[in-house]
Amino acid sequence: MHHVSFRFFLAAATTGLALAPPPPPSLAKNQTSVLILGGGVSGIIAARTLHEQGIDDFLIIEARDELGGRLRSKQFGAEGRRATVELGANWIQGTQTGNGPTNPILTLAQKHGLKATESDFYNSIVTYDETGPADYLDVFNRAVEAYINLTVAGGARVQRKQVDATCRTGYSIIGAKPKTPEEMVSEYYMDWEYAQTPEQTSWIASSWASARSSANNFTYDADQGGFSDGNLFSVDQRGFKHFIQAEAHTFLSPEQTLLNATVRNIAYSDNGVLVTLADGTSISADYAITTFSLGVLQNDDVLFEPALPTWKQEAIQSMTMGTYTKIFLQFEEKFWFDTQFALYADRERGRYPVWQSLDLQDFLPGSDIVFATVTGDFSERIEAMSDAEVQAELLDVLQTMFPNTTIPTPTAFFFPRWFSDPLYRGSFSNWPSGFVSPHHANVRANVGQRLWFSGEGTSQKYFGFLHGAYFEGLDIGTRVAKCVHAVGACESLPFIEEVSNATPYDI
Ligand SMILES: Cc1cc2nc3c(=O)[nH]c(=O)nc-3n(C[C@H](O)[C@H](O)[C@H](O)COP(=O)(O)OP(=O)(O)OC[C@H]3O[C@@H](n4cnc5c(N)ncnc54)[C@H](O)[C@@H]3O)c2cc1C
Ligand SMILES: *[C@@H]1O[C@H](CO)[C@@H](O)[C@H](O)[C@H]1NC(C)=O
Ligand SMILES: *[C@@H]1O[C@H](CO)[C@@H](O)[C@H](O)[C@H]1NC(C)=O
Ligand SMILES: *[C@@H]1O[C@H](CO)[C@@H](O)[C@H](O)[C@H]1NC(C)=O
Ligand SMILES: *[C@@H]1O[C@H](CO)[C@@H](O)[C@H](O)[C@H]1NC(C)=O
Ligand SMILES: *[C@@H]1O[C@H](CO)[C@@H](O)[C@H](O)[C@H]1NC(C)=O
Repeated sequence: MHHVSFRFFLAAATTGLALAPPPPPSLAKNQTSVLILGGGVSGIIAARTLHEQGIDDFLIIEARDELGGRLRSKQFGAEGRRATVELGANWIQGTQTGNGPTNPILTLAQKHGLKATESDFYNSIVTYDETGPADYLDVFNRAVEAYINLTVAGGARVQRKQVDATCRTGYSIIGAKPKTPEEMVSEYYMDWEYAQTPEQTSWIASSWASARSSANNFTYDADQGGFSDGNLFSVDQRGFKHFIQAEAHTFLSPEQTLLNATVRNIAYSDNGVLVTLADGTSISADYAITTFSLGVLQNDDVLFEPALPTWKQEAIQSMTMGTYTKIFLQFEEKFWFDTQFALYADRERGRYPVWQSLDLQDFLPGSDIVFATVTGDFSERIEAMSDAEVQAELLDVLQTMFPNTTIPTPTAFFFPRWFSDPLYRGSFSNWPSGFVSPHHANVRANVGQRLWFSGEGTSQKYFGFLHGAYFEGLDIGTRVAKCVHAVGACESLPFIEEVSNATPYDI
């Protein structure tokens, strides 16, 4: 056990001292420091924001041995045939329309020369079912249209101040009731976006939040303040993380980052914060910004002292964390489709439905890599299985898709277990029905003036996205900078002590 003295007031867990006293208010400006907990996009952008406001007295604490968070890449493939693939985020979703607003992730990617390719889910796709190749693109296109209709109807509900419902309710009301495997897999791209089923997803929030269709809304629809309906897919062999690591490089010095350091406990008071690491080290500061995923907050992987207030806990536990799992296979040689995407309609909804080829011009030609994506409960299911069992299921599905090919043994196989990983506990947050706007305000709100929350999950418009994490780092960083500059200027975010019902139950 050792002690890190960060700034001047160090404490305490290992020496038995109480939380160090606050600096006298007149000295606050000089003696302030901020702990940024987590080194993903949100933490790095919060740090950059502090730096731009003249505050360099901060420390990023990150459990892993590099920055980037859910931008996680891996060298995948047989010896001598490896390529960098993305286990986490892969797309810049929504780019720019004309001179309209730009996705800030695109701006950073361009600044740091990231290599990315246009991704075309709608026009570069082939379809399969349990008989092999089967053309049901007409069914698919109707499902896309139904999704657009769903979001328009969801927007109308907002206008009319109607209560939320699930996307399943919405689909049923607009008359989309998938029954066949082909209809179910065509609807599945909704799960593919939200990492949860239509039953688990808010009709209203999914209408504003995203969707890979052209209609919606803050991310994809330029008319609604969105960027564009374009998607860029990173194929950069330095990893998609390169853009944020390079950005961090422009302003961070090594002593502003503590890697390989897992936070266990966050004690907070009106005077400051005291963070204790897994190795017993404790570090104190005037402010902390936690950027841990919603899943981490939900599962007590990090403990708060005192426990977070009920309004905060209710909000954290009411939003949901979805899981999105990419399963990579490399073969001796490519035997599959020449499009970017393929759908596979199994009679079980969500069973290895979406396939992507990386062995394509402008992607990773010659890589012989293909990957499948599963989400939600199905992700949790396969995380509980051995790699060999999952591989066997995938080879089975490939055999079904390609009945005339003898499917060879893959030369490499890998999938990440996001749901079981205590640093993430899933892939990204999702907005369930029954989770109302005041709940989300409470997910985002600071607790007291010293403890702040940022990350993709705190973004109302862009939860689940890299740009959500970015905008939150910017906003929360700006707010904390104000506090640092003058305690008196510190403005708390609003929270709602008790989220109540506009039309109480009459029982
Ligand atoms: C599989 C997958 C696919 C995705 N696809 C896309 C996509 O294509 N496009 C897109 O825009 N978004 C995508 N996302 C979402 C995007 O990756 C996230 O929204 C974004 O990276 C979140 O950034 P963040 O800073 O909020 O959180 P994080 O990146 O999770 O940063 C938090 C950091 O905290 C660290 N940490 C956690 N616990 C501790 C602890 N106890 N002590 C110390 N450190 C800790 C973590 O290691 C992490 O580095 C995807 C995510 C996943 C997982
Ligand atoms: C702040 O720090 C500077 C430089 O270290 C010092 O000159 C100044 O007196 C300090 N101000 C206060 C209010 O302590
Ligand atoms: C973090 O841990 C890894 C693996 O244990 C090690 O290789 C690396 O040097 C460490 N990095 C830092 C900055 O401590
Ligand atoms: C979508 O809405 C349009 C306009 O109301 C309608 O004509 C069309 O049939 C709907 N499509 C689906 C698949 O629901
Ligand atoms: C989303 O955009 C569509 C138009 O493309 C609009 O009809 C709908 O109301 C919007 N939804 C929300 C929730 O703003
Ligand atoms: C598989 O082979 C059979 C018999 O030669 C043929 O009829 C069928 O079209 C082939 N299927 C595919 C997907 O190539």
